[in-house]
Amino acid sequence: MNTTPQPLQAPSVPESGPLTQDQLKTLVGQAALQYVVRGELVGVGTGSTVNKFIDALATIKDQIKGAVSSSVASTERLLALGIPVFDSNEVERLAVYIDGADEIDGSGNMVKGGGAALTREKIVAAQSDKFVCIADESKLVQTLGKFPLPVEVIPMACGRIIRQFAALGGQGTIRLKDGQPLVTDNGQYLIDVTGLQIADPRAFEAEVSQWPGVVTVGVFAFQRAQVCLLGTSSGVKTLNF
Ligand code: 5RP
Repeated sequence: MNTTPQPLQAPSVPESGPLTQDQLKTLVGQAALQYVVRGELVGVGTGSTVNKFIDALATIKDQIKGAVSSSVASTERLLALGIPVFDSNEVERLAVYIDGADEIDGSGNMVKGGGAALTREKIVAAQSDKFVCIADESKLVQTLGKFPLPVEVIPMACGRIIRQFAALGGQGTIRLKDGQPLVTDNGQYLIDVTGLQIADPRAFEAEVSQWPGVVTVGVFAFQRAQVCLLGTSSGVKTLNF
């Protein structure tokens, strides 16, 4: 993931051939500006697509109060571009939250957490009136479960939670970084679970969320998207849910 703030550039369309995934991300990041309520704070997610949005947001930074951020990485990028960042506890409601997804289905349910920020993402999404998902078309799926499901957990509960997923047909592994368990911004571990078909995202999220030791499950059904700006080869498609 590119973490260095870049000056905003319009995506250059190649003379022939489809837009690259990076160009699609730039397109949807820029398109999301139309949902930012001028004069207010905006909720900001995490990831390579959101980085494009943050770069675009910097071009209208004088028209907003600032942002509530969902990760240390996004906070650093926002501040580097001169966008004030507010603690979520200082803010009651946000009009809009802009974030990417690892998967999104036709009803706006998502899998998130590929960038390890799912817990803070769910917190900021929960205090926002509208979730606008920005994604390239590779993220659109019929049924959630193709992307390994991230679950943030208390370290001492990892073994049992992996066994609980095995009983559902899933294979869980602790996410590593440099050979060691990755530690999230909240000081916890992540389990990535493959082999699941999440036919009923709401019921799945409700069940897994109450397993002891689960901090956050990466299914976003209760905090699903109301809008998805999908980058496609023929431009940005708006899906309303
Ligand atoms: C981070 C997330 C991201 O939104 C998700 O991983 C998509 O990232 P990218 O835009 O880099 O594909 O949930 O925790």
